[in-house]
Amino acid sequence: MQAWVIGNWKQNPATSDDVQTLLSDLLATADKNDGANSAGCQLMVAPSCIHLAGVSDHLQDSPVLCAAQDISAHSGTTGAYTGDCSAQQVADAGATWTLLGHSERRQYHQETHACLLSKMTHAFDQGLGVVFCIGETQAQYDAGQTLAVIDEQLTVIKDILTQQPALADTLFDRLIIAYEPVWAIGTGKVPTVAEVSATHQHIKQTVAGYGEALDNITVLYGGSVNADNADSFAADAMIDGALVGGASLKAASFLAIAQAF
Ligand code: G3P
Repeated sequence: MQAWVIGNWKQNPATSDDVQTLLSDLLATADKNDGANSAGCQLMVAPSCIHLAGVSDHLQDSPVLCAAQDISAHSGTTGAYTGDCSAQQVADAGATWTLLGHSERRQYHQETHACLLSKMTHAFDQGLGVVFCIGETQAQYDAGQTLAVIDEQLTVIKDILTQQPALADTLFDRLIIAYEPVWAIGTGKVPTVAEVSATHQHIKQTVAGYGEALDNITVLYGGSVNADNADSFAADAMIDGALVGGASLKAASFLAIAQAF
């Protein structure tokens, strides 16, 4: 199983100069460790949309992939949707993947099941891979509702397969799931490896039930992953990599996480 380590830069860095510095540091540090994918895992970065084309250009001769952090739900191509970026536009800018359903978008943009189903449809229609983010809030975790919440969030995948059954044959290569407990994002708090492993196993089993070609889907963990705890997550067979926020904004820590996987 290929390991993936993805850097979700969120609304960072502040300037295009800072972006270029981060990228140069990333590639220089990676080269010192004999290559950007020296860790044997697939690296990917998800910059802000405004930086996407520049990042893609900078990375074009490297094995590091580029993802969007989100795409429009309204249309996969052109349209009168001020402020949105379409799947076609981010693909044209060099993204080959997009994150969808990140908890910060679900929270601050009230992204619903229908909205995410539309985004996922547009992403696949335009040839993008999807990193689908799911996870429970602190209150849901405390109430023992983690698996129930995840099951509900995963039904977006079930529904897109109902709408487009043929997707099942290729979805394995175009869909990654990122389990990110909301209470672990940016907090320094993490679940135990055993908790993450059990949740990932549940996710894999649930998605496998959606179609034969979907057994052992790639599931990443996200939420306060850093150079110190990456080894413990990487050691578990159910954890196929990491979706990294803060620690991806420093090349050394991002690559240290990649080396662990
Ligand atoms: O998408 C990854 C992100 O939500 C995790 O953030 O800063 O806890 O690694 P962080």
